[in-house]
Amino acid sequence: MAYAAFRSIGAYAPSKVLSNDDLAKMVDTSDEWITKRTGIKERRIAANDEFTSDMGVKAAKLAIERSGLDKSEIDMVVCATISPDYFCMPSTATIISTKLGLGNVTAFDISAACTGFVYILSIAKAFIESGMKKNVLIIGAEKLSAITDYTDRATCILFGDGAGAAVISATDNKDEAIIDIHTGADGQFADLLMSPNGGSGSFHDTLEQEATSCFMQMKGNETFKVAVKTLTKDVVEILKENSILASDIKHFVPHQANLRIIKAVGDALKLDDEQVVLTVEKYGNTSGASIPMAINDIYESGRLQAGELMLLDAFGGGLTWGSALVPFSPLK
Ligand code: COA
Repeated sequence: MAYAAFRSIGAYAPSKVLSNDDLAKMVDTSDEWITKRTGIKERRIAANDEFTSDMGVKAAKLAIERSGLDKSEIDMVVCATISPDYFCMPSTATIISTKLGLGNVTAFDISAACTGFVYILSIAKAFIESGMKKNVLIIGAEKLSAITDYTDRATCILFGDGAGAAVISATDNKDEAIIDIHTGADGQFADLLMSPNGGSGSFHDTLEQEATSCFMQMKGNETFKVAVKTLTKDVVEILKENSILASDIKHFVPHQANLRIIKAVGDALKLDDEQVVLTVEKYGNTSGASIPMAINDIYESGRLQAGELMLLDAFGGGLTWGSALVPFSPLK
């Protein structure tokens, strides 16, 4: 049986910075409030003519280059995004694969909101373990600024733009393999975090103006409570099921939604500060892009070394959640 190895990482953040002070000029908020409640100081915003696929391409180029593979060896591209270039078709994954010149590959998007990267990791693992694919490029890319309501202070302070990508490849060596991935969803909590307009559910009975808006709406306080409860339970379970101790984790790489959620989960596992990877302060919540952007951060700063074990966890609209135990396994 083939195993799936996490070979490489890449990421891209747009250059334009939107600080808390900038937001305080747009809505009734302050740097102090945002910092205290979320840990976010600034986020990146894509240029008007910079699409989700453009950011995905930049991240993917780095990931392919660092994988040691030739791009012709990539046989599948999966993109996790809730802010695709086009809402119905074509998929952002097909646009990215064409811009990269990958030729004839399987390419599709998935929608699992902020859990998107954990979901596409599980898809890559399943395709590789079944023998159907050998080298899968996975990309989390978001232009959340395009679906954010900058008059709503409860949401606009949280989100930013960016992309991250990884190459997952077949290996015979079990020591290199992704150990386990959990994914879950519960539509009962759909109304906590959603874009209610713009889909087939809104076209038939709403005015055109409403139907064309895909802005996110959120019940922040309830989302916060469900996130902490669900994530804490999930990370405890994945460690227990795999007989892995929290102290065996070199890097805990959570979805970067809110510093207080991250700290609550880290405390439940009794993790040291050095184990917890944080980028929320500089990028905010970039949904499906946040985990690969955070992995790229520790890679580029030299903190991520071959063989080190990462614990990923994520939570998002749907509701969806997931966790993964992933050794970093670059080709020697
Ligand atoms: N600036 C200043 N005040 C704000 C504000 C802002 N940006 N946003 C909300 N407020 C106000 C509210 O209007 C409310 O005022 P009131 O007491 O006069 O009614 C007060 O702050 C408390 O609001 P509440 O929503 O209870 O705040 P909170 O402590 O829950 O913090 C979030 C709000 C959004 C930061 C927090 O709930 C959160 O991070 N939730 C999780 C969101 C998340 O991670 N979503 C993505 C999941 S992937």
